[in-house]
Amino acid sequence: MNVSDKFAAARAQFPVTKRLLYLDSAHQTPLSTNVKAALEEFLSEGHEMGGPKPVWLRRAEETRERVAKFFNAAPAEIAFTKNTSEGLNIAANAVPLEAGDNVVLIEGDHPNNAYAWLNLKRKGVEVRFAKLKDDEIATAGTVAPYIDKHTKVVTLSHVTFHAGQVHDIGGIGKLCKDKGIYLVVDAMQSVGVIPLDVKALNISALAAGTHKGLLVPQGLGILYVAEGLDELQPTFLAMSSMARPPADYIARPEDLEVRKDAARFEFGNVNLPDLQALSSAIDLIESVGVPDIQKHVVALGGRLIKHLDELSVRLVGPREHGHRSHIYVLALPVSKWADFFARNLVRVSPERGGIRVSFGMFNTFDDVDRLAEIIRKGLKEDTLVAIEQVD
Ligand SMILES: Cc1ncc(COP(=O)(O)O)c(C=O)c1O
Repeated sequence: MNVSDKFAAARAQFPVTKRLLYLDSAHQTPLSTNVKAALEEFLSEGHEMGGPKPVWLRRAEETRERVAKFFNAAPAEIAFTKNTSEGLNIAANAVPLEAGDNVVLIEGDHPNNAYAWLNLKRKGVEVRFAKLKDDEIATAGTVAPYIDKHTKVVTLSHVTFHAGQVHDIGGIGKLCKDKGIYLVVDAMQSVGVIPLDVKALNISALAAGTHKGLLVPQGLGILYVAEGLDELQPTFLAMSSMARPPADYIARPEDLEVRKDAARFEFGNVNLPDLQALSSAIDLIESVGVPDIQKHVVALGGRLIKHLDELSVRLVGPREHGHRSHIYVLALPVSKWADFFARNLVRVSPERGGIRVSFGMFNTFDDVDRLAEIIRKGLKEDTLVAIEQVD
């Protein structure tokens, strides 16, 4: 199959594309037919057989291996969580930080990351926000002025939800490695869309949810913790975290040794239905491959930018090829355009800088052209204007 046939086959897995112009993958993925089938299989097993839990657990471990490959990590470096926030909070509380230490973030980055670290102000940890414009990406040069000898962590999104910037994690990772600083990455928006090699990027810990580029419903998160960072210890403990879980289910205070692998950060049962669905989602993603998904969404973005230029609608985030991926915020006032898009069966998100358009593996150039036509029509309506015309 050539690449365009592979994309056509992937699109056929998303019936939503027949009903809506779905341009909102940065909000949540629509479900593919094979993911729905995996969830239905899980439901039937639970419904008709009371659930073969050992089988589900075995499948979950197989999925852990597949997830690890996704990041060029080892299965022992992957823990399953509930969502991005949980993974980031686990990381924030696992890193040994003391009063007087500081953590560097990017101003305006996702609040779910910011709050995880701001909560440490109670311990006397300082949180520093590096300034960055929406059309710029963060590089080593962005964070370097905020770093001093008390800096222990740099943490940021890989791809930003609010402007679609693709930060230079490689450059920042190298700086962190040279200075002995932990790099914690929020990969919620990039996972499944941009290839992610945690080793090459020198990432210490990475957290993501799975309901966007990994194509499954909300409720499952992934936490990568690099092997060897044994000083990162869990704040929460359950039997699943322990090196020697007691066979008789009696907790003994004299044995509190936790596991060595990343599963020391897992507590209790994990989201088995979503993990089953994730395996099918990975089948679908791998039917095309993340490198081609990235190329595809960047090309769709290029086409969108051309249309925006013709329509004189400003793009809020970066235009440069290597600085953007699947998220494009259009400077159109939300108060007027959100309703217009809904009336025209276009699914997009309101964002702080305007209307956010985001692509998934199933979107096509034709989708982008249709969107441009709809915007053209909107701009002819008296009440609908672009932000520059309002200012
Ligand atoms: C960069 C980023 N981080 C985190 C989240 C969400 O966090 P959680 O998975 O905890 O709901 C989002 C969007 O939903 C996001 O875009």
